[in-house]
Amino acid sequence: MSKKSVMDNSFLKNAAVIGFPITQSLSPLIHEHWMEEVGIVGSYSAVEVDPGALADFVKSAHAKGLSGFNVTVPHKTEILQYLDTVAPLARQMGAVNTVKISADGKLSGFNTDGIGLVNHLKASVPAFPLDKPALILGAGGAARAAALGLLTEKLPMVMIANRTREKAEKIAIEIGRGRMTVVDWDERNAAVAAAGLIVNTTVLGMTGQHPLVLDLTHAAKDTVVYDIVYKPLETDLLKNAKSFGLRTVDGLGMLVLQGAAAFKIWFGHDVGFTADLRAKLEAQLP
Ligand code: ATR
Repeated sequence: MSKKSVMDNSFLKNAAVIGFPITQSLSPLIHEHWMEEVGIVGSYSAVEVDPGALADFVKSAHAKGLSGFNVTVPHKTEILQYLDTVAPLARQMGAVNTVKISADGKLSGFNTDGIGLVNHLKASVPAFPLDKPALILGAGGAARAAALGLLTEKLPMVMIANRTREKAEKIAIEIGRGRMTVVDWDERNAAVAAAGLIVNTTVLGMTGQHPLVLDLTHAAKDTVVYDIVYKPLETDLLKNAKSFGLRTVDGLGMLVLQGAAAFKIWFGHDVGFTADLRAKLEAQLP
């Protein structure tokens, strides 16, 4: 018999995603794919935690044997108060999407959304225009992540347009350091010609939402159009961009690569977005 008791399951490495609601999360499929790939024995579960139950979940997470967990809507900001340390980028975003639990139960918070977006952009379009401003549409948490990610690149400027202008102004003031300008939502079409990269972070184009209306007639030929929406995978915006011959990036890679950065934080392994994984995910999408 092995020296380890049969009851000893300390070799198991488990993680989870918490949110409310949490139906149809693709994260278990993604992380369990990587666990198998790198030979980790464990599981990744989607746990519905209602807003009133976050404190209880956090208190019991270490005892549950979790190495860490992802955090999604509506807990990304509220989670901060329960953490022992918060990485500077997550602090700047005011949102945490990844929590690591150390062996002694200490909780550290990170935000991998911006890294996921930029890493996927660089992997899909290595030569995206760095000499022109980017245009971000939207001003929610995803827009803030996109802006922080893109500001780490050598772009001259990041323009941001949002239906509610004040929210775009808040982001530009809080993180722009003079490299962000706000464009009126109604003026977004006029900003297209100047943009080397256009990123939709609004909910427009998602299944059940209106499409994003954006006139791409005057976009430069080398402009890249990135939609972080992945349900559906090919939004009307991306279809339209393709009809103008523009390069496009869909939202699936951002989802996967923010997960890859979390996986690295928890387990120390570098994992990526292989064709194998894309095929598995696409089979789950509408
Ligand atoms: P997340 O945190 O995931 O980015 P969010 O905070 O709900 O999500 O942000 C949704 C974004 O979609 C916002 O920029 C929102 O614009 P407002 O700030 O004006 O609400 C944008 N959005 C939602 N419905 C929209 C619509 N019909 N037209 C334009 N923008 C819309």
